[in-house]
Amino acid sequence: MTVLVVATGNPGKLREMQTYLSGFGWELTLKPEELEIEESGDTFMANACLKASQVAQATGEWALADDSGLEVDALEGAPGIYSARYGKTDPDRIERLLNELGNELNREAQFVCAIAIARPDGAIALQAEGVCRGEILHAPRGTGGFGYDPIFYVPKEQMTFAEMTPELKRQWSHRGQAFKILLPQLQTLKTED
Ligand code: IMP
Repeated sequence: MTVLVVATGNPGKLREMQTYLSGFGWELTLKPEELEIEESGDTFMANACLKASQVAQATGEWALADDSGLEVDALEGAPGIYSARYGKTDPDRIERLLNELGNELNREAQFVCAIAIARPDGAIALQAEGVCRGEILHAPRGTGGFGYDPIFYVPKEQMTFAEMTPELKRQWSHRGQAFKILLPQLQTLKTED
C-alpha cells in the first residue's frame, strides 16, 4: 500500500477521506502535528496545492490536501477562502453571515471544494474542484454536519446539509463532487506507477 498523507490535523476529515478513497490501495495517515502550513493562496485550489506540496516535501510521501468554503452570490463570493476565519466558532460565523446578508432577496450560494494530490517530491499530480449550489436560509435548521451546514439549503432535497444523513450529504456535497472527478484520475495514476 502506498502511504498518502492527508494534510489535515483533523481526524474527522481523515475518516471522511477514508470513506471516499477506500479500495484504492492507499494507506491514509494524518500529517505530522508540528507541520503548520499557512493558507496564503488567493483561491481554494492555490491553497490545496500549497498544502499538498509542502506536506509531500516535508514527509517524502504522497500527500492530499483540500480547501473548501462557502461563496454567497449577493456578498460577491464572501466569505470564500476566509470561511474558516469568518468568526471564532460555527455559531459566530453563521450569525455574521446572516447579519451581512440581512433581508437580501438573492440567497443563492455555493460550497466549493478544491483537492490536490502531490507526489513525494512536491509536484502536483492531480487536482479537482467540486461545487454544490444552494440557498442561505434566514435561520439555522438541523443538527448534523458542521460549519455553515444548518443554513445551507438544497432545494432539490428540501433540506439543509445539517438535516441530511452523512450519506446524503456526501452525494450532494462539494467534497463529494470533487472526489467524483478525482477518483477516475486516481485510478490512472496508480496503474502508471
Ligand atoms: P477547510 O477547508 O477545512 O479550511 O474549511 C473551510 C471552512 O469552510 C470550514 O471551517 C467551514 O466553516 C466551511 N466549510 C467547508 N466545508 C463545509 C461543509 O461541508 N459544511 C459546512 N461548512 C463547510
